Amino acid sequence: MTMAESNTPGAALRDQFGRSIEYLRISVTDRCNFRCLYCMPESGLQWLPKSDILSYEEIAEVVRQLAPLGLRRLRITGGEPTIRPQIHELVRMLRAVGEITDIALSTNGVRLPQLAPLLREAGLDRVNMSVDSLRAERIAEIARRNLAFDPVTSALAAEHAGLGPIKLNMVVMRGINDDEIEDMARLTLEHPWHVRFIELMPVGDMRALTWSHVLPSDELLARLAAIAPLQPSDGPPRGNGPAAYYQWPDARGTIGVITPMTHTYCASCNRVRLTADGRLRTCLFGDHEVDLREPLRAGERLEPHFRRALAEKPKEHELLQMKVGGLRALSQVGG
Ligand code: 5AD
Ligand code: SF4
Repeated sequence: MTMAESNTPGAALRDQFGRSIEYLRISVTDRCNFRCLYCMPESGLQWLPKSDILSYEEIAEVVRQLAPLGLRRLRITGGEPTIRPQIHELVRMLRAVGEITDIALSTNGVRLPQLAPLLREAGLDRVNMSVDSLRAERIAEIARRNLAFDPVTSALAAEHAGLGPIKLNMVVMRGINDDEIEDMARLTLEHPWHVRFIELMPVGDMRALTWSHVLPSDELLARLAAIAPLQPSDGPPRGNGPAAYYQWPDARGTIGVITPMTHTYCASCNRVRLTADGRLRTCLFGDHEVDLREPLRAGERLEPHFRRALAEKPKEHELLQMKVGGLRALSQVGG
């Protein structure tokens, strides 16, 4: 019998390596209004049929059943979560679950100017925005959609609605947008924002991007430190993730690096993911998935399924070892 199976029902969820699961990323759609170079083919993917996608009520039920087992923090992701109609109504339902202390949303920001006040009113705590460039033409090149939006305007809209601390995530691609890392970092001088640089993961169906486009974070930090010294920082309050933070003297915000390619942080991984079609994924990579939709629709208790999923949570992923067969696009698993 594994340690996870020997847990008594109702006890806090811990996986076989003792990691507790208090953080769930919820993908609400696999669709997106962008086609980012590093994420999806330009023609899109084979989208899930509507009937396969969990309703808001079903998502809320998963959260209500996980909450007594230790779940505390949620992140709503996609695809692009803001293109699912009435997304603020899901926020409202999740906010009503007493144990949940923090609800965040990851977005490309296009719809934030309209939605930020609505999301805040429904109980959303904060947002992360993907910002791969500050230049309109380049955004359109990377996203392969020209939706004429300005990321700084969207971030300000979120901040004014009370959805801070604002985190801006940039996937850095050498030769494509790495000439903007300094400009991105300079946003932290003027704004209390947390700008995070993510090492490109050259996985999935991306053709145009290869390992040569990966900019290791040590090189990135050296470039920023040449402008002004970088001090280690605690970063934003209420962070869940694996970023390491730094700060320029007198800056209002912080600079973070997320380094899936050069460092592994699986040992402290505290997250699981719920896919839009109702599978619980315990690792971003590999194919560890347990279906919750069928038991949910059959009215079964979900706890035994959670425990089975956790028992299978791998010790670490195999990305760095390059044993990455069977990967789903990150938009399908919620990033
Ligand atoms: N490499 C790194 N990050 C990725 N994301 C999606 N695909 C990749 C990839 N291939 C992450 C980024 C992006 C978010 C939507 O998902 O953080 O901003
Ligand atoms: Fe959409 Fe995000 Fe994927 Fe870009 S990275 S295509 S915004 S889901």
